[in-house]
Amino acid sequence: MCGIFGVIANNDNVKDQIFDGLRRLEYRGYDSSGIATINNDQINCIKSQGNLDQLQKKLINEDLLGNVGIGHTRWATHGVPNEANAHPHITDEVAVVHNGIIENFSLLKNQISETGINFKSETDTEAIAHLITLYLKSGMGSYEAIRATTEDIKGSYALAIIVRSEPNKLYAVRKGSPLAIGSSDSKNYIGSDGYSLGNYCNEVTYLKDGDIAIIKNDAFEIFDHQNEFINRKSQIIDKTVTLAEKGAFKHFMSKEIHEQPSVIQDSISHYINNEDLTVNLPKFPFNITNLKNITLVACGSSYYSGLVAREWFEKLARVKVDVEIASEFRYREAPMDSSGLTVFISQSGETADTLAALKHCKKLNQKTISIVNVPNSSMCRNSDSSLKIFAGPEIGVASTKAFTCQLVVLASLAIHIGRINGNLSDDDENNYVKSLLDVPRLISNVLDQEEDLIKIVKELNPIKNALYLGRGQMYPVALEGALKLKEISYIHAEGYPAGEMKHGPIALLEKGLPVIIGAPSFNLFDKTASNLYEVIARDGNVLLITDQEGLNHLGDTTKKIKSFIVDEANIITAPFIYTIPYQLFAYHTALLKGTDVDQPRNLAKSVTVE
Ligand code: F6R
Repeated sequence: MCGIFGVIANNDNVKDQIFDGLRRLEYRGYDSSGIATINNDQINCIKSQGNLDQLQKKLINEDLLGNVGIGHTRWATHGVPNEANAHPHITDEVAVVHNGIIENFSLLKNQISETGINFKSETDTEAIAHLITLYLKSGMGSYEAIRATTEDIKGSYALAIIVRSEPNKLYAVRKGSPLAIGSSDSKNYIGSDGYSLGNYCNEVTYLKDGDIAIIKNDAFEIFDHQNEFINRKSQIIDKTVTLAEKGAFKHFMSKEIHEQPSVIQDSISHYINNEDLTVNLPKFPFNITNLKNITLVACGSSYYSGLVAREWFEKLARVKVDVEIASEFRYREAPMDSSGLTVFISQSGETADTLAALKHCKKLNQKTISIVNVPNSSMCRNSDSSLKIFAGPEIGVASTKAFTCQLVVLASLAIHIGRINGNLSDDDENNYVKSLLDVPRLISNVLDQEEDLIKIVKELNPIKNALYLGRGQMYPVALEGALKLKEISYIHAEGYPAGEMKHGPIALLEKGLPVIIGAPSFNLFDKTASNLYEVIARDGNVLLITDQEGLNHLGDTTKKIKSFIVDEANIITAPFIYTIPYQLFAYHTALLKGTDVDQPRNLAKSVTVE
C-alpha cells in the first residue's frame, strides 16, 4: 500500500503538484503523509500524522521550495501512524519514500546502529535512507549507492529517492510494488499508478521488478536488474479514469452506490450485444472450450464476487469451480490441471496476494484472465487476457460498484462458457442476457427505497453485533454485507450460510441481536425461512430482505420481523438486487455512528503488501 509521487522540473516549485498527486493516491493509505524537496543544497521535509488534510494545513505555512521533490501517503506496516514514522525518511544526504515491506530490516537496523547511527523512527524505510547515505559517504556515486542498497534489502519495494547533492535528478526503484514514470514537456513525474499521473502526462512508463530509473526534468534512463540500460515501452494513460468528484453526495461511497445502475449499464454494454441478446467477449489468446475446471482467485469483496459467480459457472456452464483466497492459495502448492483456466478478480489490479497468485499460476501453465477495474494495472499487464469491469474510479475504501460490476463480467463469462461448451441453448443465452440487461433497472428500484431502509437502520440501531444469513448465492452476498458493516462502522458482523447456523453461530443469538437474512422466493426460500423461525424463537431481531412472494409465504410471522421488499429475482439478478440493501444498510449505520465512511480506520483501497 502507500502512495508515492515525485516531480522533477526545471526551476518550478514542485510542492503543489506533489500534493495533488498524493491526493490521487490517498486511496492507498491515509494514516500520515509528507513531502520532501531540495532547495539551496538542503533537503527540506514536512510531515504530518493523519490524512492529507492535516498535511495541507501544515503546508500552508511552509514555503517548501524546490525543483525536485517526493511525497508519500502512508498505510502503516512498521511503526504506528505518527509523524516520526511518516515518510519521507531523511538523512543529511537523501530523502526516501517507500511502498512495500523490507523483510530483513531488523538485521539491517542492528548493523546500521552499530555504526553509531540513531534511528528516529520505527520504520523499515529509515534503514534504506541510512544505507544509501553510508554508501555515499564511502565514496560511491548516487546511482551506485542506490544499487548497492537494493542488493542489501530483501522484500518488496517501490522507492523514490532524492539526493541533496543532485537537485537535477530523481531516482525511482521497483521490486514487487508498482511504480511508473510520466513525462510532460519539461517535467518528469513518478507515481504509484497511472491515475495519479493522469493530470500531468499523456504517457506513462511502468517500471519492472529490478529496475532503477534515473530521472531528469527532460529525460530518463532505466537500468534493469542486471544493471543494463533498458528501453521500456510507454503506454497512453487512460484519461477516462482521471476524474473522481463527490458531486452532491456526502461521501464517495454513497456516490458509488448510487452510480451502480449507470456503471453496470456501461459494463453490460461492453460485453452484451443487446440486439441479438448474446454475450460478446473479446477473443481470448487460448481455447476455452472443454474446460474441466476453473479456479477463481481474489481477496476480500472480490473473493466474494467469485463465490457468487461459482454458482453461475456451475449451473450455467456445468464447469467445476474452485474459489480461492489469494493469500492462502499462493502458498498452498495446490496441484493444478496444466492448461486449466484461472481467473483473477481485483478492483485495483494491484493486490499483492492476487498478483503473486497470478505469477504462480503462470508458472504452472495456467491460462490466465484478470477481471479488473483499473486499466493498465499490474494484473492487466501480467495476465494472458484481461476483462475490464468499467466501474470507473472507485474511491470509497469499501468496495461497492466494483463488486457489482465484477459480477456483470463474471456472469457474462459464465454464460459465454456455457454457450460454447453446449450446455446453454440459444434461448437460454438470450434469457440470461435479458436478465442481465434488466439489472440496472432493478438496482434503481432498490435505490429508490433508500428512505425505507434508513428508517429500518434507525430502528435497529445502536447495533453492537450483527449476523448475516443466506443460502446459495445469498451466502456470499451475506458475507459481503457483513464485511461492509465491519469495515465502515467497526461493528462486529458475521456472514454465515443460513443452514450452518445451528452448527455453532446459533449460540450467539440473544434477545435483540440483529439478524439480516436475504431470501429471494425463487431459491430455497422455505429452507431459509426455517432458519428465520429459529432466530425468532430465540428473540433475535430479524431484518428479512425478500420479494413480495417471499413475504406472503411467511403469513403472520411478518408481524414479528422487519422486512425490506425488493423485486422478484432469478439466478442472474438476485446477487445484484440483494447486495444493494446491504450496502445502504452499512452506509447509513456508519453515518449514524459518525465513522469516517470513505477512509475507515486501518484500511486502504489498494493492498499492495502481503
Ligand atoms: C472491501 C474491499 C476489500 C477488497 C480487497 C481486494 O470493501 O474493498 O476487501 O475487495 O482488498 O481488493 P482488489 O479487489 O483491489 O484486489
